[in-house]
Amino acid sequence: MPAEDNFTVTPYAVKGDINYDRLLDRFGADRLTSEQKTRFPDPSHPLVRRDVFYAQRDVDPFLDAANDDKPHSIVTGRGPSGPMHIGHIFPFYFAKYLQEQTGTLVYIPFSDDEKYFLKNKSMDEISDYTRQNLRDLLAVGFDPDRTRIIVDTADADVVYPLATAFAKEVTQSTVDATYGEPENIGLSFYPAVQATHLLLPQLVEGRHPTLVPIAVDQDPHVRVCRDIAAKKRYDVRKPGALLSKFLPSLEGPGKMSSSDDAPSILLSDDRETVTDKIRTYAFSGGRTSIEEHRSKGGNPEIDVPFQLLYYFFEESDERVEQLAEEYREGSLLSGELKEFAAERIAGFLEAHQARRSALGSLEEELSAYRLTETERQAARRQAGYPDNALSQQ
Ligand code: TRP
Repeated sequence: MPAEDNFTVTPYAVKGDINYDRLLDRFGADRLTSEQKTRFPDPSHPLVRRDVFYAQRDVDPFLDAANDDKPHSIVTGRGPSGPMHIGHIFPFYFAKYLQEQTGTLVYIPFSDDEKYFLKNKSMDEISDYTRQNLRDLLAVGFDPDRTRIIVDTADADVVYPLATAFAKEVTQSTVDATYGEPENIGLSFYPAVQATHLLLPQLVEGRHPTLVPIAVDQDPHVRVCRDIAAKKRYDVRKPGALLSKFLPSLEGPGKMSSSDDAPSILLSDDRETVTDKIRTYAFSGGRTSIEEHRSKGGNPEIDVPFQLLYYFFEESDERVEQLAEEYREGSLLSGELKEFAAERIAGFLEAHQARRSALGSLEEELSAYRLTETERQAARRQAGYPDNALSQQ
């Protein structure tokens, strides 16, 4: 028997000191092997190289298809419950990188319904966040010919019929066992909606390998969807998953949450705000006095500014290693490391914000990314719906 674990990870609650390996035992997912890492596109992405995406289900069919120039897709979505922070955006930049490297289709669903069921916020507020978050997604710069953005309540003509079909395949006891007892029947139904998201590229384009790169708390949704896909009623493959650790919060390891009191670095923060948040709040692995730091050195493993650089914001492996080295031996001070991290993060955000401000109206920008009528019909047909349920032909 493993020692008792003191952490909770579900799509609706992340608490405690997460043991990422033991979580895999609980979920039944596997480590990403070094052999699998080498089959990602070259040049490799730091998120893969550095084990931020550390685990997977069925990643091989996706890598095979990507390497053989066969159809393949990625689904990674957003629950618009608030402004986006830096922890939310990295799967999307990763998806864009893969799209550039392999030409993968990318589907980006927005679960405004899910967040309405889950949070104490009006639909109006959620819709506001949806629009704001959509601008952030558009700023990433996906190829409109190979990218589709879906908003659950705005694309209900396709999402609802499919979710209805999939809901019939899932029992309430599966939902209870997978997520804990839901607070309302909306959340009981929602897993069928997220399953719809994950199967949508195949329902539109035909059977092919799909990969879902997401934080590990979303794995239960993938599991439920894989069970639905296995039922063989639909001509789809089970989607695979590429699971990431959580970007550390400023206060220390664990999930960076936008819902509690600790400040997160928002995608809209300017240079001054970023620097200020890091100086004031970022947990340091340095010593209490400069003298002690110079003589004993700091600990990059628990230092949040270092971790942020390592996870996402410093691409160069040599630079990352050099920083760790100098920090350990005490020549790099905690304050200096903070300034360096703030500089990198602010630089990243400024580029992101410049692309966001260059966008036109949301409706106009989004139109190139929405499902076409033909694509909507194809998906509905796959789930057994007639083209127009109201007119008999
Ligand atoms: N449920 C996700 C969240 O809360 C958002 C989401 C919706 C998603 N559909 C998805 C994530 C599909 C990955 C794939 O953040």
